[in-house]
Amino acid sequence: SGQSKAQAAQEVKDEEKLYRYKGVLYPRILCPEENLKALESVEAREDDILLAAYPKCGFNWMEGVLTKIMAAGMGKQPQTLKPPLLEFFGPDMIKVAASPRLLGLHLHPDNIPASFYTKKTKMVVVFRNPKDTAVSYFHFSNGNPVLPSQSWETFYPQFLSGDVPWGSYFDHALAWDKKIDDPSVLIVTYEELKQDLSEGVRQISSFLGFSLTDAQIQKISEDSTFKAMKETSASSHGPLGNVFFRKGEVGDWKNHFTAEQSQEMDRAFSKQLAGTRLGARLHY
Ligand code: A3P
Repeated sequence: SGQSKAQAAQEVKDEEKLYRYKGVLYPRILCPEENLKALESVEAREDDILLAAYPKCGFNWMEGVLTKIMAAGMGKQPQTLKPPLLEFFGPDMIKVAASPRLLGLHLHPDNIPASFYTKKTKMVVVFRNPKDTAVSYFHFSNGNPVLPSQSWETFYPQFLSGDVPWGSYFDHALAWDKKIDDPSVLIVTYEELKQDLSEGVRQISSFLGFSLTDAQIQKISEDSTFKAMKETSASSHGPLGNVFFRKGEVGDWKNHFTAEQSQEMDRAFSKQLAGTRLGARLHY
């Protein structure tokens, strides 16, 4: 039928939005291949702060929190890239940004430019339970023109097998779990932040070496709630503001997963993350 032809055309076009680099899918526009190839030449600086997160785990939330903590702790705004993704800007643009830089990426920890490890750059990692991450990714993929649109039935198995942009959620979680005791790495979770945001802000501030007052911590927390960030999302994130700040809740997966899918993901989770300390914090 005409409709299925139109649909097929749409699918072909969508397929062109992603490409593979070293076996992992990436969105062509957000992560040009030449940038991924050149990232190894990025030079970290002593005063950089690196935000690392698998997509849809709360990267933009944490970017807001870190920007506010840095501004309060240093008395001036940090340099952030818009969008704050190393993969998008590539080494040349990153080099010209003034210090102190707040840099971000969605890359697997093994693919983070080596210089960040040798310089012992402070890394803040945000993780989230896999079911809400999958649901958030599904909506984002349908709302962001650089990513393909597809049904939940199509997206869900791709997420489970890791055939989504930036690769497998489980691979990322496993690799970060191995760095959980690294003094340069702080892993926070979406669920912990939802439960007690000011405690999270306090913990992140002290990890970064800032001693903020209770009033500063309180103010940052109030300005970083989902409601507060959604209200300013049009100016902070432009026309995609509503796509980035969609629902902001724990447990939205219950509105999307079938009972079978939920059990299947529980099994995949146990198989890949059981016994890990990060896994224990991603209960859902
Ligand atoms: P939902 O799609 O479940 O609403 P990322 O920034 O990594 O792309 O993650 C996006 C997810 O974080 C979205 O989840 C978004 O709503 C949520 N989010 C953004 N800001 C938030 C905040 N201040 N509090 C809680 N959740 C937030």
